[in-house]
Amino acid sequence: MKKKYTISRREMILGTTAAISYGLSASAMKSLEAVPEEQILPGKLDNSVLESPFFNEVRFKVNGKTKTLPVDNRTTLLDALRENLAMTGTKKGCDHGQCGACTVLVNGSRINSCLSLALQHEGDEVTTIEGLGKPSRLHPMQAAFVEHDGYQCGYC
Ligand code: FES
Repeated sequence: MKKKYTISRREMILGTTAAISYGLSASAMKSLEAVPEEQILPGKLDNSVLESPFFNEVRFKVNGKTKTLPVDNRTTLLDALRENLAMTGTKKGCDHGQCGACTVLVNGSRINSCLSLALQHEGDEVTTIEGLGKPSRLHPMQAAFVEHDGYQCGYC
């Protein structure tokens, strides 16, 4: 007697998805194991890390100066500025695109840097609050923050 297999379309899709996910995550984890843990932290990357599929190099201009950074692919523009370049004028408030504390200009347009990956900005010109004026001659935006004690987002 011939054995009859019954499997629904949904069960077939779920089984296939699970098998593919397991295979991909196993190979991804193996690649990540090749990267020393201390080099996964922002700002502590060296060129050997670029051999990992999880890291890439990005080059952009920040306040008129060209910067080349090896970054974890998941690094936001905000974290690249703050952690990799130590430019802490751009603040991390909500980290969810709601407060505007992380606002920077990219090619002249305002964006929330917490919602944008650093790798998306290859070749872009980024202007942070530090690039708007000088301590001896503050930009009106900088002066307003100082005058009104707006040291984070300035929303209030
Ligand atoms: Fe709040 Fe980016 S940190 S909008």
